[in-house]
Amino acid sequence: MAIGASASRPSIEVTGPATERPASGPGPYRGMTATVPPASIPLAFLLMAGFGLIAFGVATAAVAKRIVSGPTALPVVGAVHFGMLAFLSTAVVGALHQFVPVITASELRSVRVARVTLVMWIAGVWLLPAGLMPNITPMIVLGGAIVVVAACLSAWNFSGPLLKASESDSVTGLRSAVAYLVVTVSFGIVYAIDLHHGWFGLLPHRVLAHASLGLLGWIGLSYVAVAEKLWPMFLLSHKEKRGVGRLAVRIVPAGVLLLALGLLFAIRWLGLLGGAVTLGGLAFHVGSFVGWVQHRKRKLELLHAFVISSMAFMVLAATAGLVAELGEMGIAWRIRVASTSVAAAAMWVALAVIGHSHKIVPFITWTTLRKRGISKKPDGKPVLFGDLFSSALARASFGISLAAGVSLIVGILGGMPVLIATGGVLLAACGVLTTSNLALWPRVVVRSIRDAEVKSDESS
Ligand code: HEM
Repeated sequence: MAIGASASRPSIEVTGPATERPASGPGPYRGMTATVPPASIPLAFLLMAGFGLIAFGVATAAVAKRIVSGPTALPVVGAVHFGMLAFLSTAVVGALHQFVPVITASELRSVRVARVTLVMWIAGVWLLPAGLMPNITPMIVLGGAIVVVAACLSAWNFSGPLLKASESDSVTGLRSAVAYLVVTVSFGIVYAIDLHHGWFGLLPHRVLAHASLGLLGWIGLSYVAVAEKLWPMFLLSHKEKRGVGRLAVRIVPAGVLLLALGLLFAIRWLGLLGGAVTLGGLAFHVGSFVGWVQHRKRKLELLHAFVISSMAFMVLAATAGLVAELGEMGIAWRIRVASTSVAAAAMWVALAVIGHSHKIVPFITWTTLRKRGISKKPDGKPVLFGDLFSSALARASFGISLAAGVSLIVGILGGMPVLIATGGVLLAACGVLTTSNLALWPRVVVRSIRDAEVKSDESS
């Protein structure tokens, strides 16, 4: 994207509706970008997360039969980690490099470390799943080790602003979520090395402990925490008194701890208690959304279709998790229902990530363009966030990601590899569509502005 202020173009002029003007203009974005790292860092993470979604879809389609016959087989574990690491965790770590400085109004500890983290993280989260699928131990262990180092570097970088910041629901939630990232990858590397050495059996309850820490404690809680800032911002919603969101960001991490300990040591009552407390925390998360919607000053939009659909998958994940634990059924069905719960939990955060990326990426891109003196379209109107992606393609991304989730869940629960493969292909298609829409559409806009400038220069 070749951008630069031409001598004949005046510096930035910010006009148009207050809600679409970040940084210096009035409205909810005032002064938000003063502490953020260079846009290339979060944008590179989010671009790679888009490729991670494509890889997750392709890998899931490739192992569809194995997901039905043996969901804990290593090719399946590999496909799962393209989803958990190369897509979801990469999107969350990337967004937090932008978000943590914004909500704490203070800079990361080091931009250089953020760049090193980016390179290491991308290398590790692709090497590990690519090694798990064909079971190549050196790739598994090396990839896993690199992920652990990158996760610790990002936790160190985030801890500076997070520990310094004054208390807020998002800050409180993110402190726990980042801690859970380090715990999850630490479990992961031990399991990765154990795969080769067999020190202890990787029994399903032990693997589910790791999965719950990662999906609920790290990725899920990060979403619950940032939602307390993003939802009021995108809905222009204001509540007189603090909502139940403050309970969600405190109860979910407590519940996940009890759940993981109960699963890890096969203490059933503790696991059930943890599950119940986590569900309670997630119910407050849903309650918080309802509260922000009730106090909103903006109409609901595509983002909220993503948010509401994602919540439906969260409810499905919770229900399947309870049935898998309490239901009377044979081991084959119990594994199938438990896999459905893990897949539904992944779709909960996947839809939330894809939906919010249609806000976060244009916001960062808009700020970058502004800094490069690009603020007006050829018709003289200000460039707005909504101009930096195709809303038709965004609606298509929503439809395809929802269809992918339904196809995956029905396929896993029904033991139908064709539906699982279809879900995988749809996920990959959604990845191609969303990534090209958010990465390439701004180029179209910039080119049209540049072409108009050249034309007006020639005519003047
Ligand atoms: C941070 C996010 C992570 C999440 C959400 C996550 C999630 C999961 C899930 C859902 C499973 C079960 C897969 C299945 O049975 O098909 C799993 C298993 C596993 N994970 Fe992770 N994981 C994460 C990170 C890691 C990392 C960083 C490593 C290695 C360094 C790792 C190593 C493993 C291993 C070895 C297993 C398989 C155990 C077995 O043989 O069943 N995970 N993880």
